[in-house]
Amino acid sequence: HLLRPDYRLNYHLMAEFGWMNDPNGFIHYKGQYHLFYQHYPYEPVWGPMHWGHAVSRDLMKWDYLPVALAPDGVFDRDGCFSGSAIEQDGKLVLMYTGHVVTGPDKDQDYKQSQGIAVSEDGVTFEKWEGNPVIGYDAVPDTVSRKDFRDPKVFRHGDQYYAVLGSNDAKGNGLVLLYCSKDLRSWTYVNVLAKSDGRFGDNWECPDLLPLGGRDVFMLSPQRMPAQGEAYRNLHSTMYGIGDFDPVAGTFTAERYAPVDHGFDFYAPQSTVDDKGRRIIIGWMDMWESEMPTQQGHHWAGAMSLPREAVLDGSRLLFRPLAETEKYRSNLFEQPVTVLTGEQTLETGGDSYELQAVFEFEAGKTEEFGLKLRVGRGEETVLTYRPNDGLFRFNRDRSGIGPGGERRVHLGLDEGRLELRIFVDKSSVEVFIGDGEYVLTGRIYPGSDSLGIQAFAEGTCSLVSFRKWDICM
Ligand code: FRU
Repeated sequence: HLLRPDYRLNYHLMAEFGWMNDPNGFIHYKGQYHLFYQHYPYEPVWGPMHWGHAVSRDLMKWDYLPVALAPDGVFDRDGCFSGSAIEQDGKLVLMYTGHVVTGPDKDQDYKQSQGIAVSEDGVTFEKWEGNPVIGYDAVPDTVSRKDFRDPKVFRHGDQYYAVLGSNDAKGNGLVLLYCSKDLRSWTYVNVLAKSDGRFGDNWECPDLLPLGGRDVFMLSPQRMPAQGEAYRNLHSTMYGIGDFDPVAGTFTAERYAPVDHGFDFYAPQSTVDDKGRRIIIGWMDMWESEMPTQQGHHWAGAMSLPREAVLDGSRLLFRPLAETEKYRSNLFEQPVTVLTGEQTLETGGDSYELQAVFEFEAGKTEEFGLKLRVGRGEETVLTYRPNDGLFRFNRDRSGIGPGGERRVHLGLDEGRLELRIFVDKSSVEVFIGDGEYVLTGRIYPGSDSLGIQAFAEGTCSLVSFRKWDICM
């Protein structure tokens, strides 16, 4: 009789049963947040894609609704792939990709087009009889005949627009722009943006959003070459801040940066809620990551915490939502502590938020940080080294899942480091500073690896440490 640790997350959305990947159709509609997701409801593996559906009033507690879309149409018989949602005349409209396998090799032989489905009540969806609304021939000659997917629809001026991911069939990802007056009849506008060879060979899940008077373009490039410490995952997420010209159909960015610097964050999608917040949520896994819950558990894949994106000059800050604070309990506070080695804190757990502030001086501090989910030789290590300015998230000894290290360059040689960390059963999300950087990763420790340690080589002080359990 095997005692299996419970890796099921407490305050992150997972499928009730089966597989989950990308967030889809994220929208605040008639007083509730709706989140759909790429879903295979029968097994914890990727299969013919359905759209799972959940609703929430605070983005923390979710209720499951029936599967919204199933692959049962002529143009979507092998999958209802990723897409988005928009409200039109009080109705909830989903725009998604129909996937059809066309030959013996399902990974090579396929075609994709776009359809819509409409709901009057936000629960039951009817696919439009005129689907597809953007057909197989609606792509320019210079663009892939196969990869044409993940419509993100938005309103701008008196028109609807949709951005779609594709590639030029020569190894460069690109995004196409379409416009429409009614969501049913669509016109091709332009190639909105294209890789110059450095940013991946196929672009997935694009999003184009206004923020703080600028425009933000967010996307998920496949097979993205690493650039220094950035983009260390095979498939990555990035954003650029710039200006969208809807008439020319162009977007020009000053610079691009990763959305998340950790192991597991992909295909993010954004929405604006009734409070005017621009909220981003991502798939908290990664195509190339081994997922241990596929064996012996009934589910695989999860959503990240939703994060508010805020424009700060030429970059975005990503911050946890205030709603997370509603579920705090059992505050633990550590008095100011001078660290000269390793110290086990008198607290622990597997479902909590912690806030830590370190102060360190040049020449006196080699490295310092925190160890989480410590027990029986297991630990997940967060380290900062002033010498090289790198913050590290190491999961080599985290448990049974994949190992590895992800780093982000902070470049501070003295001063303060503020961390806000969310741990949930099999996940860690680290927010640095005011949300300048986020690192997200799945870990699979034993259920009794609950310890928390603070450490320093040389010396530094832990000037503030607060931890709350998160109870749903
Ligand atoms: C991104 C993605 C999308 C596609 C979906 C299929 O993770 O590959 O491009 O629509 O997953 O599940």
